[in-house]
Amino acid sequence: ARKIIIDTDPGQDDAVAILLALASRELDVLGITAVAGNVPIARTSENARKICEVAGRPDVKVFAGCDRPLAHTLVTAEHVHGKTGLDGIELPAPTMPLQEQHGVDFIIDTLRAQPAGTVTLCPMGPLTNIATAFTKAPDIIERVQEIVLMGGAYFEVGNITPAAEFNIYVDPEAADIVFKSGVNLTVMPLDVTHKVLVTKPRLEAFMAFGNHVGDVVAGWLDFFERFDIEKYGSAGGPLHDPTVIAYLIAPQIFSGRFINVEIETGSELTRGMTVADWWGVTDRAPNAMFMGDADADAFFTLLTARLATL
Ligand code: BDR
Ligand code: CA
Repeated sequence: ARKIIIDTDPGQDDAVAILLALASRELDVLGITAVAGNVPIARTSENARKICEVAGRPDVKVFAGCDRPLAHTLVTAEHVHGKTGLDGIELPAPTMPLQEQHGVDFIIDTLRAQPAGTVTLCPMGPLTNIATAFTKAPDIIERVQEIVLMGGAYFEVGNITPAAEFNIYVDPEAADIVFKSGVNLTVMPLDVTHKVLVTKPRLEAFMAFGNHVGDVVAGWLDFFERFDIEKYGSAGGPLHDPTVIAYLIAPQIFSGRFINVEIETGSELTRGMTVADWWGVTDRAPNAMFMGDADADAFFTLLTARLATL
């Protein structure tokens, strides 16, 4: 199985991504590192454990990482995810432990301990933990097999400002470090996630499981979608973070281009923008596989089939 570390700020869509990973034999989740993002670190590190327990996997190692972005104050998204970050269904406080080690050190130690090129990082929140690890231990960068992250946007531009997507906006300095690092990088921007919409029939497919996991997922997504449906007037809300895991299992669902992507860190107006040279109008070297399209039906078929096994 492919070894992954999930770096996350749950978040209902992060939660579904974690369940998808834990339900997939192709993937071996070495650990989950929480980061401050949708909600503060105390919540994200607690939510990550609640999610593992929903999956019946209290054995998964969960670590708390950075509690704030590198250079700016934390911007959260309770307006999307609710006060807990996982609103939509009441879950008991987790009984599984939070690991004592800092998430950043877990990332560094794991990349050094495993054979080079065998560990994939899956960031689904602000890139603070990853950038901190790369800065503290630059030797690990070339040991990473691949980073597959959710963040950024090009044609769909912003969801937290007119120009920026949330994960990149919260910590643009961290994103800049990761995008400039030379790491093998695959990006799932809003251009992809806004194609995989949780329509009513897709939501009902989770309810139809008739079990705890189905009810929890439906509860989360029903809450999470409300905001986006109102905002975009679409048939359902986008399911961002699970695209990262789906890509690892079934890359053929997605298509994109290997292009240059730079992060705007300076401008007040466009801070956190992913300036993606989709049309190749510069001679800047490509640094990211930037996805642009997804087969939504194939994505939901995969997701539903996998979650049904939990
Ligand atoms: C991203 O922002 C968060 O609110 C979601 O969990 C997702 O990772 C989408 O912009
Ligand atoms: Ca997230």
